[in-house]
Amino acid sequence: MAIRKVARLGHPVLRQPCRALSTKEILSDEMSRLVSDMIETMHEYGGVGLAAPQVHEPIRLAVIECEGMNERYQVAAQQPLLVIFNAKITVLDAQAHGFWEGCLSVPGLRGYVDRPRKVRIDFLDAKAQRQSIEAEDFLATVFQHELDHLEGVLFVDKIADVKRFAFIEEFQRYHIDDDTPVAD
Ligand code: NI
Repeated sequence: MAIRKVARLGHPVLRQPCRALSTKEILSDEMSRLVSDMIETMHEYGGVGLAAPQVHEPIRLAVIECEGMNERYQVAAQQPLLVIFNAKITVLDAQAHGFWEGCLSVPGLRGYVDRPRKVRIDFLDAKAQRQSIEAEDFLATVFQHELDHLEGVLFVDKIADVKRFAFIEEFQRYHIDDDTPVAD
């Protein structure tokens, strides 16, 4: 396992649509190495998720893990480690729900983003088996944020009011009570 370098805002790899993977690719040794590296990288930086383009691989793969209280985000939510290939997202409740979001590719910043409150994600797991999961509230935001990466979309694109975009220090000082938690 190895910690991978994370691509930052401005790198073109973050702005391209990612390609889907074949079952053979998903089951390959190379892919299992990449998944291990992504998990280690996510843990190293305290993220709640990481998408493959963030480690310079423009493929439809993301990992998500959100256990108890997250150090970076001060929010309690439960999502055991999930490896997601070729995800498709369906909105189940379009009612907007906002959180302050951050991103390992946009270090040091937080922005407030409204997203649909509830979604379903259909995907293939690490064994290339079909899975489906529903997520709401904070977790719905986490999934939408990660899966947006696979379309070349970053949370900064979805900040409706740029006055609610801030460095972490200023966010903590002036905006932390604006609503509640924060997501990656
Ligand atoms: Ni991100």
